[in-house]
This record gives sequence, structure tokens and C-alpha cells, in this order.
Amino acid sequence: NSVENGSFTWSSPSNIALVKYWGKKEHQIPENPSISFTLNNCKTITTVGFSKKENHDSYSFEVFLDDEKKDDFKPKIETFFKRVEVYLPFLKAYHFKIETSNTFPHSSGIASSASGMSALALCLMSIEKLIIESDEAMSAEESALSNEHFIQKASFLARLGSGSACRSLEGDLVVWGKHEAISGSSDLFGVKYPNEVHGHFKNYQDTILLVDKGEKQVSSTVGHNLMHGHPFAQQRFKQANTNLTNMVTILKDGDLDAFIALVESEALTLHAMMMTSMPYFILMKPNTLEIINKIWSYRKRTGSKVCFTLDAGANVHVLYPESEATSVLEFIQNELVAYCQNGQYICDVIGLGASKL
Ligand code: PMV
Repeated sequence: NSVENGSFTWSSPSNIALVKYWGKKEHQIPENPSISFTLNNCKTITTVGFSKKENHDSYSFEVFLDDEKKDDFKPKIETFFKRVEVYLPFLKAYHFKIETSNTFPHSSGIASSASGMSALALCLMSIEKLIIESDEAMSAEESALSNEHFIQKASFLARLGSGSACRSLEGDLVVWGKHEAISGSSDLFGVKYPNEVHGHFKNYQDTILLVDKGEKQVSSTVGHNLMHGHPFAQQRFKQANTNLTNMVTILKDGDLDAFIALVESEALTLHAMMMTSMPYFILMKPNTLEIINKIWSYRKRTGSKVCFTLDAGANVHVLYPESEATSVLEFIQNELVAYCQNGQYICDVIGLGASKL
């Protein structure tokens, strides 16, 4: 092809699952469908510079995080390149300079793999699009790589980097995994939630309480694998399917009490799977439980519709409708910040997905 060099920059957000993905088959195929809110403020910004090279025998790339060379990121990206090379045949033809930064503090315990892998996948898709469009030998059909196909393939590639990353491209709700109530849903990529959503969920707030910024003792890759042969695995996968069916009704009707019950149960079930795998492990910290109890007593006292969810770590995502933004933030500042490491928390809101810069 005739493309010598260039660069693309994408910004991609993090996401928080309401119905959780935990357990996968080969090739990053999820054992159950999941649904997430796309975030707005927590994001990764990645620039991929590329220049044609002589030798096409191996990958050639360097990685920078906040302008600092990060050789420890290379194995993960090398594994990703190997997985996606069949879908992106140009990977050995160029040298890549991957420069990335996050809007949230590093080692905050906020996973950057979803936002990072989706930003990288989008940059690679932009390169592919450029190559296809600049190559006159390509058919008109191929060069008319539609926007929908572009996002879908980027999500497909992001999934191969980190499963939940395939839910980070679009907003404001994304489903990954085949489910009968969600038309177009697939195990291979995330799709924008196609059904009706009640106004209560507009601008839903997510304040992330940073409880423990340390490195997790058990990676999510190990955690997913522990679902193989897990005594409750089949029951859990069935439950997630049912929960997603119920979530469709909740999102349509705006039943916030039902939303709270489903979302909190999903969070605790995720951690229950960790506690009941062999070997077992616990990612929550004492302050995670303190916060959960405070949220429950605040809700009881005030009738608030605030609730929590967790991902694979100790941090707590506090979810609440926009109408309660002022009161819940006051509650967080008065009662919950004391349980955060260095008093740190991040205010976020549901967002619209990735953008090209
Ligand atoms: O994308 P992974 O392999 O890091 O898995 C993340 C799984 C959870 O965050 C715990 C749940 C989810 O659905 O995002």
C-alpha cells in the first residue's frame, strides 16, 4: 500500500458494568451477556504514530505512558497484536509509537484496560481505514467502510485486548454478549443498547470512591479462569441472563428500587464468585464494607435512590440519578470520603463513548 506514515489520536472512556461479565470461553467469548454504563470523565487518550518499515518479519513498537517509556506494557500489547493480526494484516508493515495517558490518576485501582484497549483498537482501525481508502485497487465496497462497521470492528478488536473494553466505544449503555431481548447483541462485540430507556437514567451519576489504590492481588484474567469448574458457575451464568432480561424492563419503566436491588446484587454476586472459587480470594477491603453499610443506612434514612456497584477491586462506584446530585455528593463528602485512600474520589457521569481527536 502507499501509506508511508501518519498518526491518529482517540479518546476512549472507562465503563462500569451493571450486569457483570465474569467467566469466559476461549477467544474472549463471555460466558454470559453483560451491560454497562459508559463513563464520561475517566478516559484514556492514545496516539498511535506509524511509519513504514523495510522488514516485515516481526512487530516493532514502543509504548509511552505520560511521555515516559513503558517497556512493561509491551508484552500485553504484543499478545494483543498476535491476536488481532489476522484482522489487521498491516501490523508487521509499520513501526508504531503508542503514546497514552489517562485522565484518572495511575494506580488508582481504576482499571485502564477497558479504556486503553478500546483507544488502541480505534487508532489501529483508523490506520486500516486510511490504508484501504488510499489504495485505489480496493473496491468501492471495501473503501466505504461504514461508520457502523468501523465501530463494530473496533469493538471486536478491543474485546480481544480486554473483554470489557468492547463496551467502551459507544454510550450511554452498551451490551456485550448474545441475549434474546437485545436485538443485534453478539458475543463478539459490544452494541449500543437499542431499547427504550426511561428519563430517570439520563445523566446518571457515578462517583468513584478510591478505597485502595494498590495493585490487585488477583488479576481479572486469573479470576475469569477460576470460573472454569467453579461450583456455582452454571447457576451464575443463568442468573446473569435473567438479570439482563429484568434490566430491560427496569430501564424502560425507570423503576429505581428494582434497579438498586439488581445492581447491588450483581456487585455482591461478582465478589461472591471470587470468594467461592478455588483458590478463593477477596478484593474488597474493610472500607469497601464500611461504605456499603453507610450507603444502606443513608438510603433507609432519606429514601434516596443511591446505590453502589463494584468491579474487580476494592473501589466503590456510587450510582445515583441526576436529581439527587447535590444531596448525594454532600453525603459522600460528609460520610464516605473518610473511607477513601487520601480522601480521593472521582465524580463521573454517563457518557457518550469514544471520540477521535
Ligand atoms: O475486561 P476484564 O477481563 O478485565 O474483566 C472485567 C470484569 C469486570 O470488570 C469485573 C466486570 C465487567 O463486566 O466489567
